[in-house]
Amino acid sequence: MYIILLGAPAAGKGTQAELLTKSYAIPHISTGDIFRGNIAQGTLLGLKANEYISRGLLVPDEITEGIVADRLRQDDCRKGFLLDGFPRTVHQAEFLDGLLKDLGVEIDAVINIDTPDHVLIERITGRRVCESCKAVYHVKAKPSRTEGVCDKCGGKLVQREDDKEETFLKRLKTYYSQTKPLLDYYEKERKLFNVDGSTDAELTASRIIRILEDVG
Ligand code: AP5
Repeated sequence: MYIILLGAPAAGKGTQAELLTKSYAIPHISTGDIFRGNIAQGTLLGLKANEYISRGLLVPDEITEGIVADRLRQDDCRKGFLLDGFPRTVHQAEFLDGLLKDLGVEIDAVINIDTPDHVLIERITGRRVCESCKAVYHVKAKPSRTEGVCDKCGGKLVQREDDKEETFLKRLKTYYSQTKPLLDYYEKERKLFNVDGSTDAELTASRIIRILEDVG
């Protein structure tokens, strides 16, 4: 299966990707995770990406597109992949179309996780991430067993730098101006499916799986 997850920041893309990859044995490719990994390691790419991420802006297309092209050419992507956070601009969507043509594959479904702004704010303020293994929690919706400590590895749970309210509001603005137009783009390609993202995560996942079974 070749799947794209679209949605505003904190809509639940990463959460759904984790649930979906339990049913579909395909790699979960998150450009945000790739950038954060590079920032943590202090690579040149990480330094460059952080100039934008810390300001709630998108990393320039030419940087992001190069990373995705390299990743999708890897062997584990031959039978499918789940893209989370890419594409995010019309330019990236057009680039992806060309890349997929080269690879001889087609997207099966673009799932838009539609979550209202007031829910996004609640999710962002409550999100906590494990410093070590990157597992994602929410103080109310998905708390860890011991406050501040990761259930999986015992690591420290922290707030993402770009989840601070001021940066988050900029990310939301960036989403509306640069990413939301992709809904029209994929609607025209008849690939778009809207799913209510405000419900329980398992219920949302079961609705997405039903869509994927229909198109698959
Ligand atoms: P990225 O990491 O992709 O951030 P994002 O799109 O803003 O998405 P998030 O990771 O914030 O949220 P999510 O939708 O995955 O929600 P989650 O499941 O965690 O990108 C970060 C930055 O990198 C960008 O701002 C940009 O600068 C750069 N970047 C990345 N890709 C790029 C690209 N293609 N081009 C250019 N720049 C790029 O859920 C959020 C919280 O809610 C969690 O606490 C979770 O537990 C909780 N939750 C989730 N679902 C539910 C539910 N159903 N019920 C209750 N709680 C829930």
